Amino acid sequence: MKSLQNLGLLAALSLSTAKLLYVGVNESGGEFGVFGTPGTGLPGTFGVNYAFINESTVDIFVDQEKINFFRVTFLMERMCPLEFGLGARFNETRMQYFSEYAAAINHITVTKGAYALIDPHNYMRYNDPSNQPFSGSVIGNTSDPNAATTAQFGEFWGELARRFATNPKVVFGINNEPHDMPTQLILANDQIAIDAIRAAGAPQLILAPGNGFTGGHSWTQVTGNNDAPSSEFLNKLSDPLKNTAIDIHEYLGELAGRHVDFSGQHAECTQPAPTNLANLTLWLRENNLKAVISEFGGGDNQNCYDFIDDMLTYLAANDEYIGWTIWAAGPLWGTSSPCCGPDTGSLEPGMLNDLGQPDAFSNVWPNAVRPNIPKDLKRSGVSSLD
Ligand SMILES: *[C@@H]1O[C@H](CO)[C@@H](O)[C@H](O)[C@H]1NC(C)=O
Ligand SMILES: *[C@@H]1O[C@H](CO)[C@@H](O)[C@H](O)[C@H]1NC(C)=O
Ligand SMILES: *[C@@H]1O[C@H](CO)[C@@H](O)[C@H](O)[C@H]1NC(C)=O
Ligand SMILES: *[C@@H]1O[C@H](CO)[C@@H](O)[C@H](O)[C@H]1NC(C)=O
Repeated sequence: MKSLQNLGLLAALSLSTAKLLYVGVNESGGEFGVFGTPGTGLPGTFGVNYAFINESTVDIFVDQEKINFFRVTFLMERMCPLEFGLGARFNETRMQYFSEYAAAINHITVTKGAYALIDPHNYMRYNDPSNQPFSGSVIGNTSDPNAATTAQFGEFWGELARRFATNPKVVFGINNEPHDMPTQLILANDQIAIDAIRAAGAPQLILAPGNGFTGGHSWTQVTGNNDAPSSEFLNKLSDPLKNTAIDIHEYLGELAGRHVDFSGQHAECTQPAPTNLANLTLWLRENNLKAVISEFGGGDNQNCYDFIDDMLTYLAANDEYIGWTIWAAGPLWGTSSPCCGPDTGSLEPGMLNDLGQPDAFSNVWPNAVRPNIPKDLKRSGVSSLD
């Protein structure tokens, strides 16, 4: 019944023009190795505490799976060491974090010709990543003498964008999952990043996050400690190039917004994306905005395959969505599960889960993701909304 419905939808879709431009996977690992006591793993050792990609598995994704989009995480405290503070001064020693990161981005974009989403994985906080997502000072919190300022955040983005300005295949993600802060401050931080990126001469697509871990299901709702809905502020962003989309995360487990809710036992998918995203979709349409779902996930079971399939079918059927990246592959997961039940494993090709069985690349991917990879993804040109 369900698959027949899907076939009907796909047939209808194939008559219209392609809408999804960017489809792929998170490459997570650049933010690893800092958990615990403040200062742990800073700056850390490349290949031991953190790593960005395994080039061979990126090749598998591009050559065999035909995806075109990788979200690559990094930590702002490693790009801008605490002794420098957040801003335009990066770690400039010879084997520094930026060049390690740029090598990963260049492999994806130059060698393989795919698009890369640059993701400062910082929850809009800087100075203590030891207990993310809650540690660290909220950027732009003027009551916190240790907090980096909104202006410093702009300087950081201006410098980062300048370094990638001539690479058409990057997309700038302003920050991972802001939460528990005034929504107006998220707007201010997003806006200064957009202004700094454009002032640096970088024309590429920008993704701007909202509050509540940028959850799609709660986009029009109050989140945190009575913080205003993202929908009340994020339509006030302005981009002189009109090349900014909204960055959304949406998990399918018990609490739709947060992948941490999948840790441990919550392997079942219970949150239907088409229903949970309906208010967001309407808001996007009313405000003439587009969105990318840059994080979502489901576990290794038929129930989650169905929920993922329903979500990706919904995104393909609604003009407001231009892309997605599933969470997560990456070189350092080992047998761990980035989401969705301890036995799921990661999406890194060739790895095992904690039971010694093939990981999610061998089950979740072929059952729920691969059938939803469009054939006509964007392959050339500056990253853009169309
Ligand atoms: C990188 O991926 C290849 C292909 O799956 C694998 O053979 C190799 O062991 C991986 N390297 C690391 C360091 O994980
Ligand atoms: C810069 O990065 C290198 C390589 O990871 C590291 O050895 C060095 O301590 C870092 N510098 C600062 C100031 O953190
Ligand atoms: C801002 O800083 C003050 C003082 O440290 C703190 O009480 C408050 O919770 C912070 N606000 C946010 C949104 O983190
Ligand atoms: C959508 O918005 C309406 C009106 O604000 C609200 O009643 C409803 O709960 C929302 N639906 C979801 C799934 O958030």
